[in-house]
Amino acid sequence: MFRAIRKAVFPVAGLGTRFLPATKANPKEMLPVVDKPLVQYAAEEAVRAGIEVLVFVTGRNKRSIPDHFDKAYELESELKAKGKHVQLSAVRDFIPSHVTPIYIRQTEALGLGHAVLCAEPVIGDEPFAVILADDLIDDAEGNGCLSQMVEQYEASGASILGVQRVPKEHTDRYGIVNAAALSSRVSRVQGLIEKPRPQQAPSNLGVVGRYVLNPGIFRKLRQTATGAGGEIQLTDAIAALMQEETVLAYEFRGTRYDCGDKLGYLQAQVEFGLKHPELGADFREYLLGRAL
Ligand code: UTP
Repeated sequence: MFRAIRKAVFPVAGLGTRFLPATKANPKEMLPVVDKPLVQYAAEEAVRAGIEVLVFVTGRNKRSIPDHFDKAYELESELKAKGKHVQLSAVRDFIPSHVTPIYIRQTEALGLGHAVLCAEPVIGDEPFAVILADDLIDDAEGNGCLSQMVEQYEASGASILGVQRVPKEHTDRYGIVNAAALSSRVSRVQGLIEKPRPQQAPSNLGVVGRYVLNPGIFRKLRQTATGAGGEIQLTDAIAALMQEETVLAYEFRGTRYDCGDKLGYLQAQVEFGLKHPELGADFREYLLGRAL
């Protein structure tokens, strides 16, 4: 049996330059989709996958993230006094009591790889998940993208990258894998290139913000020199890990919205708005009424 995935790392220390000025003083992971911040969707997905320790790697201007997961005494007693029980439950109950959030500071935004390495003292020598909260994945029929990946890990014990088919003309926005199919959704990664131009891309399978990694990745991250954009790239460390152990790519079920990008974020708002149990019907009517 392979070790259970108990911990998830949430790198939330990026600068969010694609979303300025909204991200000048507020983290992009706190941008709401309808009524919940992105980081809450990500934490809920992790909890559904059986994660017990949420490790947030935070940076400057990120205080609102720990605040969001903290107990809000004043707000709770106000809501209780006013009999607003639905709202009380919405601010209090989204993380079960057996789940522990931990915060680590990345003092300089030296890249996603560096942010993951900052979590090593908490992760130690066990496999773990990485979730990028700005990739919002809607797996309405299932239990979430991370659940699917944890299930795959339990079958193989190999590190797994969440991938999706991307339009050929967009390969330069993703890490692209060169992979040999093992089954309809799983392939063995043979190569990994960061943001190739379409004519250089070995496939159209792009890595998105979900990973399950064996702890050997930390050694590789320590050895990784700064790469594209002067940052320590997680992709480079995974490419090095692949030389020593099997790394799989998993085409998850569900729809992913790139909420670090303004268009992707607007698409998520519309889709989640339409599905919202209280607002969906009115929102649909509004959109139909103003269709061009
Ligand atoms: P992005 O590539 O989206 O970078 O990072 P970014 O800085 O957040 O956003 P843009 O591209 O400037 O608009 C992917 C993930 O890695 C985290 C980010 O918070 C995001 O969740 N990250 C990135 C860190 O935690 N630290 C870093 O140094 C860089």
